[in-house]
This record gives sequence, C-alpha cells and structure tokens, in this order.
Amino acid sequence: MGGSVNMVEETLKLAYGENSELIKDKRIAAVQALSGTGACRLFADFQKRFCPDSQIYIPVPTWANHHNIWRDAHVPQKTFHYYHPQSKGLDFAGLVDDIKNAPNGSFFLLHACAHNPTGVDPSEEQWKEISKKIKEKGHFPFFDMAYQGFASGDPERDAKAIRIFLEDGHLLGIAQSYAKNMGLYGQRVGCLR
Ligand SMILES: Cc1ncc(COP(=O)(O)O)c(C=O)c1O
Repeated sequence: MGGSVNMVEETLKLAYGENSELIKDKRIAAVQALSGTGACRLFADFQKRFCPDSQIYIPVPTWANHHNIWRDAHVPQKTFHYYHPQSKGLDFAGLVDDIKNAPNGSFFLLHACAHNPTGVDPSEEQWKEISKKIKEKGHFPFFDMAYQGFASGDPERDAKAIRIFLEDGHLLGIAQSYAKNMGLYGQRVGCLR
C-alpha cells in the first residue's frame, strides 16, 4: 500500500541527503503518491483528519491547484505575503509579519524551490530567518517540492531550504514530484513524507 519501497528509499535521500541521520534512524514516514498533486492531496487529508481545527497558510500567488486541493479536503485557507510586484522579488517583510501574526501552530505551505508561478525563491539567509520564525511560533512547515534540480541545476542545492529546516529541528511534511525533473509526468510518480 505504501508503493515501491525502493523508490521511496531513494526519494528520501534526494530530499534529506544521502547521509541523513533521520533516514538511518528510520524516523521518516513516507509513501509513494500520485505525483506531486497526489502527495499534496494526501497531506491535506492527513491534516484534516489529525488536526481538524487547523488552517493552511498559502503564499500569494501560488500554483492554482493548491487552493483546490486544500478546499476539497475541507481545510480552511489563509494567505501569506510572498511576491512583491514592484521589485519583482520576495516580499520578505510581509512574509515574516504573516508568520508572526498567524495563530501558533498554523500550517504553512512553502515551495521548496523554483516557486510556481513567480520563480522567486528566498535566499539561504532568508530561509534561515523564515525557519527561525516558524519555529518560534510552533507552526508546521509543509514543503511542496515539484522542481528539485530545476532552480539551480543541482538537486542538492535545491534541497537547501529543507536541510535548513531539518537542522533547526522542525517536524515537516514534504510533497515530492518527479513529473518534471525525471520526465515522469505521465507516470504520476511522487512521494509524501
Ligand atoms: C508547485 C507545484 N506543486 C505541485 C505540482 C504537481 O505536479 P505533478 O502532480 O504533476 O507532479 C506542480 C505542477 O505543476 C507545481 O507547480
């Protein structure tokens, strides 16, 4: 029921790193999913079942289906500032304010890299700050990683945000898609952990 064990084992290494202690200690629950969309949907259902009173904070803008997926799972949605049209960059101050103002223990949907549709990603320093602020508020970070390797050309570099959050000791969720980076769009190969 969990899908291909080998695929899931290898996919964990891509997100967490080849030598991750979390993998060695078997501390990650992961299942194969119907590509990135299916992984997001499974997570939204999981969130509704186990945290029925929670809401999800979604960046403005985002991939349009995020709204459909969490709506169909009956999870209330809020938004957080992300894109700054004037500078065509990140609205870092707005984003950090929204993290601070959200009720403690909220869920935050973050694009791990190559943010869709803007292509704007936080810098490493900004990710460190975001991680710190999310930790202070006891929020739950959920990463949607649909383009690992496409932002920088290096899958390790593109996992940097996730690695920063792991170093900071977060519990986190990740939806992973192999539609684009492995050319498996039609096969619907993804993972939720
Ligand atoms: C941000 C984001 N998440 C998830 C997906 C889902 O991808 P798929 O279900 O094709 O793996 C996409 C695809 O466009 C996306 O851009």
